[in-house]
Amino acid sequence: MEYNFPVTRTTNPKPRPEDETKLGFAKYFTDHMFCMDWDEGLGWHDGRVVPHAPIAIEPASCVLHYAQMMFEGMKAYRTPSGEIQLFRPDMNAKRMLRTNERMCMPELPEDLLIAAIKAVIKEDIDWVPSAPGTALYIRPFIFGDEVSFSVLPAKHYRFMIILSPTGSYYAANDGGLSTTRIFVQDKYIRAAKGGTGYAKVGGNYGGGMRASKDAMEYHCKDVLWLDAEEHKYVEEIGTSNAFFRINDEVITAPLDSGTILPGITRDSVIQLLKKWGIKVSERKLSIDEILAASKDGTLQEIFASGTAAVISPIGWLNIKGEDMTVADGKVGPIAQKLYDNLYGIQTGTVEDYMGWTYPLGLCRK
Ligand code: COI
Repeated sequence: MEYNFPVTRTTNPKPRPEDETKLGFAKYFTDHMFCMDWDEGLGWHDGRVVPHAPIAIEPASCVLHYAQMMFEGMKAYRTPSGEIQLFRPDMNAKRMLRTNERMCMPELPEDLLIAAIKAVIKEDIDWVPSAPGTALYIRPFIFGDEVSFSVLPAKHYRFMIILSPTGSYYAANDGGLSTTRIFVQDKYIRAAKGGTGYAKVGGNYGGGMRASKDAMEYHCKDVLWLDAEEHKYVEEIGTSNAFFRINDEVITAPLDSGTILPGITRDSVIQLLKKWGIKVSERKLSIDEILAASKDGTLQEIFASGTAAVISPIGWLNIKGEDMTVADGKVGPIAQKLYDNLYGIQTGTVEDYMGWTYPLGLCRK
């Protein structure tokens, strides 16, 4: 379907960040945003690009009380020839369908998602950064917006996209890789079977903040969640999926429990490792197995994967207040190779031998 969204340009453009090497994660927002509405009987309507600005919301709007919302995380990259491209946007669109189904929210077709992203990036193309380690973070989100305290799906929804020039979530200052310390959370849980763990919803993250805050007391950047039933098997990290290399096998939690976010970077890591002939398993892995591997010297690497986190090596796991060092606290070779290939493919400096990039047909020299 052809989409043609009206554009209202800002009359007050913001200064862009001067130093692209110090962007941080989602600290700056571009000049424009995308908005669209959904109403019963009408479906999605009135898509438009408007200046990025605060929005008005009725205090009794159901999303503020019952959190019927979802979001996605994507990035746009500038290649050496100036082409702007996305990475596997079809995967985000498919995950969005699964999330929306879980949250009783209206479907958003893939072509609409991509057309909306293209329309807003077109206005803010000068904001797509190109310094090493940077990208334009894209945050599409949908929320129920009905004045109602009934605990029932809303009859009106708003779809928005905002953009932020950004470095990676746990970035080193030079845009390269550095290791982080992660706290193994054995008291609180993130997701149980039958819950919303596999869906990209704000509540999964809001419910994790108590644990993240506690982890900071141990100088940890984030938490490694364990399963809800036995508090024994590793699930994922606060912002990302988790991979463990033990005895030349790379292991990540399986998706079948429905408690793990099916990360697009997670899937890409699995596919790349398979292509390179590295043994990769989606299987249950207990914290005891990790501790035993650390003791007998077979624990080789741990890293996180995500759109925001990209590939983030983990140098220390804090277990019950005690640090367990991983690979001498240094960046491991598989994490480094994955980062170089993934970010290289995304930014067009490595040939896209997986067919993952999606040029938007927009160019900024
Ligand atoms: C992303 O990686 O895009 C995410 O949504 C994680 C976010 C919680 C920082």
